[in-house]
Amino acid sequence: MMIGFADVGPTTKSGVAELYAIYLDPEYIAKGAGKVLLEACIDYAGRNGFKAMIATVLTKNSLARAFYERRGARALTETETLIETGGTKEKVISYLWDNLQQAD
Ligand SMILES: CC(C)(COP(=O)(O)OP(=O)(O)OC[C@H]1O[C@@H](n2cnc3c(N)ncnc32)[C@H](O)[C@@H]1OP(=O)(O)O)[C@@H](O)C(=O)NCCC(=O)NCCS
Repeated sequence: MMIGFADVGPTTKSGVAELYAIYLDPEYIAKGAGKVLLEACIDYAGRNGFKAMIATVLTKNSLARAFYERRGARALTETETLIETGGTKEKVISYLWDNLQQAD
């Protein structure tokens, strides 16, 4: 049974990975699965030579923003921009994890 997923990969910037998505079935939110998924992504990025990881999220997504902040990410306030998505305009903001653990 699948209860959620996360996807991490490269960006155009050398050494910087991106958490493209992290989603849980609503029934499984706040039960520890998000933490496991995020830590697996951070670990994967570090082991694959990335020094940092970013994630971009809707400014209004306070649940995900608080979750990222509790897990060591810093809001890059200067990145906040308005985007057009599905016919509506929404603000997004990027988060940064730096000093990722490097592989030996
Ligand atoms: C963002 C998201 C993945 C975060 O997952 P989450 O379930 O809230 O995160 P966690 O599983 O780590 O749980 C959060 C809290 O629940 C607590 N918790 C409750 N029951 C727990 C349990 N049984 N085991 C471990 N932790 C538990 C944790 O302590 C944690 O608190 P902390 O961070 O202060 O330690 C999830 O909210 C989600 O899928 N949101 C919708 C999609 C979305 O917005 N994605 C981001 C944009 S792409």
